Amino acid sequence: MKRDFLTLWDLSSQEINLLLKRAIELKSGKDAHKCPLIGRSIALLFEKASTRTRVSLEVGIYQLGAKAIYMNPKEIQLGRGETVRDTAKVLSRYLDAIVIRTYSHNTLIEFASNSSIPVINGLSDLHHPCQALADLMTILEKKKRLKGIRLAYIGDGNNVANSLLEAASRMGINFTIACPKGYEPDTDILKRARDAAKSEIFIMRDPGKAVDRADALYTDVWVSMGQEKDTKTKQAKFKGYQINNTVLSYAKKDAIVLHCLPAHRGEEITEDVLDGPQSVVIDQAENRLHTQKALLEFLLTRPIREKK
Ligand code: CP
Ligand code: NVA
Repeated sequence: MKRDFLTLWDLSSQEINLLLKRAIELKSGKDAHKCPLIGRSIALLFEKASTRTRVSLEVGIYQLGAKAIYMNPKEIQLGRGETVRDTAKVLSRYLDAIVIRTYSHNTLIEFASNSSIPVINGLSDLHHPCQALADLMTILEKKKRLKGIRLAYIGDGNNVANSLLEAASRMGINFTIACPKGYEPDTDILKRARDAAKSEIFIMRDPGKAVDRADALYTDVWVSMGQEKDTKTKQAKFKGYQINNTVLSYAKKDAIVLHCLPAHRGEEITEDVLDGPQSVVIDQAENRLHTQKALLEFLLTRPIREKK
């Protein structure tokens, strides 16, 4: 049975733990010369710009022995009106897996339901689950545990926040988001995460309160790709929702600072914090490579769903 990775719910908590363990092994150099996916082909169908997701996947796929094929929807017949359904059915006959970065999360669902190969979400309007895997790995690496960690997210309840919230709920991380009214995480995602949570999930307005005694602080851009027309409104609404030295001083002394990148320095985070000693953003970006290799290896070599 093929397995997709569209959201954090597509893996059990036990599978997430296994995958993080494997990513740590791969990072240490274990199995560096094994090519478990030799002879396989994996496409990246990207409707939006990308530095980390694209390059870490292309490199990771190469290191696993497979071939990566990068496709811009405008350059294939999809861009001329061929349906998602037909594209999914045809590409399933050539490829072993596909990673899609798209606007509407429904496109991913439609693609996945019409394809016989694993479909991986490389970012949609609602989710960024590959990012959340690297976020979990980074927290685990730096704090040596996930359960009971206090994670504070300051800013927009966007795709990155939604996936982080799901990851926190699954792994027993206490999650607090501080955001302006109207910019909370998606209602359905929040409800499901809260219903299943092994930890506490709070939404509040005050960034200072949200980071109180936090082990890890996280932020992302105020204006995501595709929202450029809302830039002025969002810049006004999010004033004050910034990770800076004052906000950081309310967290634990050894708190780490995460950001999925790219960052807008001086907006959601100040330059001194982003480049400061508590920032782990470059390790976090590196961990995209290791977690995605572990994910691909898992989806392409162990497709049976394990018992929860
Ligand atoms: N964090 C992240 O997904 O970065 P890219 O947009 O560069 O892929
Ligand atoms: N929220 C951002 C994340 C980029 C990696 C966006 O969707 O543009």
